[in-house]
Amino acid sequence: MNVKQNINDYSSVVENDRNHIWHHLSQHKKYETVDPLVIIEGKGMRVWNQAGREHLDAVSGGVWTVNVGYGRTKIADAVRDQLVKMNYFAGAMGTIPGANFAERLIEKMPGMSRVYYSNSGSEANEKAYKIVRQLSHQKHGGKKHKILFRERDYHGTTITALSSGGHTQRGAAYGPFTPGFVSVPHCLEYRSQWGDVEDYGVRAANAIEEVILREGADTVGGLILEPITAGGGVIVPPQGYWDRVQEICKKYDIILIIDEVVCGMGRTGTWFGYQHYGIQPDIVTMAKGVASGYAAISCTVTTEALFNEFKSNADDPMSYFRDISTFGGCTAGPTAALANLEILEEENLLANTTAMGDYMLDALEGLKAKHAMVGDVRGKGLFTGVELVADRDSKAPMDESVVQAVVADCFKESAVVIGATNRSFEGFNNTLCFSPALIATKDDIDEIINAVDGALTRVVN
Ligand SMILES: Cc1ncc(COP(=O)(O)O)c(C=O)c1O
Repeated sequence: MNVKQNINDYSSVVENDRNHIWHHLSQHKKYETVDPLVIIEGKGMRVWNQAGREHLDAVSGGVWTVNVGYGRTKIADAVRDQLVKMNYFAGAMGTIPGANFAERLIEKMPGMSRVYYSNSGSEANEKAYKIVRQLSHQKHGGKKHKILFRERDYHGTTITALSSGGHTQRGAAYGPFTPGFVSVPHCLEYRSQWGDVEDYGVRAANAIEEVILREGADTVGGLILEPITAGGGVIVPPQGYWDRVQEICKKYDIILIIDEVVCGMGRTGTWFGYQHYGIQPDIVTMAKGVASGYAAISCTVTTEALFNEFKSNADDPMSYFRDISTFGGCTAGPTAALANLEILEEENLLANTTAMGDYMLDALEGLKAKHAMVGDVRGKGLFTGVELVADRDSKAPMDESVVQAVVADCFKESAVVIGATNRSFEGFNNTLCFSPALIATKDDIDEIINAVDGALTRVVN
């Protein structure tokens, strides 16, 4: 239907949405009595809804995505120009933006070499799993096919990505799952599984080795980890963890896959989260912030050594990577990604992320000093979390309904959009999440902190 619309009247849009849209991660019953929210416009850190109400977005589009903020004409213009010149060709051929973004990306990732394009974080991880599986067959006679993942980490929404997901609630009722994925313990010291241990980081990494030995090292081919766990509660691995993880992967010849879908492209103050820890992965996956949501793009990036495994036996017609992603050939993705990367450089946004991230963490610590329900404050760069507890001594997690009430209060009373762990880890959907765009100023951070301060006060009383 062709709806002619008054410029300020979005009632037909709201009705079309109510009648036909199946929203993500949403129980729809409420929309029988309440209007769905429609976001009409965005500029910088702000978005406007159908009623014209302005909101400060403290979660970069809800899920850690719009890293450079809204309304970037530089990206939109570059995409428009590229689309009229050449919008698509299947990835067996090259394109100008594909080649040029890959070159700029690899510049930021010493030790890495090859970029494989697809559309989503889930798909980027599936490519990594297929690389591990194909090498298992090519090099190990089908052994070393198992892939380890960590409790509380998330790697995507497809059945196989869920098979490697440590969010038990995201996976519930979607089995049976793909075989060959095995979980290792999480590394959240605040919820230590081993009591008060002196060197928790090393202890948690050793737990990975224990799983490898239990399963048999000759059966394990890959390990996938988020550099800093996102949706599982913003978990920054403790000191000593990553060195030991790297050592274990080398010792048992295990491909280390780092899922940078959230942390990639500056979110934590470095180009990639793993770069805080001096490790060298074999595969790095990324999506959300790569083009800040201006186009769909994901990348599976590998070392040259790994890439060569698929090239060296040219006489065998089955030995190359027999994978394709139709929309991995869209040029909008790498074009937007290239302009996005240039903005990060031109505006010095990594340095801003570090400075504003430190400022935000300090302010959140201030909230912890003031509010007993703040149990733990965690994060790096503009990627922070606040775990709410019902009781500080016992660390009993705050009931999810209270956590959601805090999120709702920030939205209603202060027009600030914050997030919380959602249907992730049973009993622990109790962490408030913040990921403002990397352009955030002190004033923006103050506004977020004031909203949370007010919400914690109001919800408790
Ligand atoms: C760490 C991580 N990996 C992978 C994904 C999946 O990305 P996508 O939703 O683009 O498939 C997500 C999504 O939230 C994520 O947080």
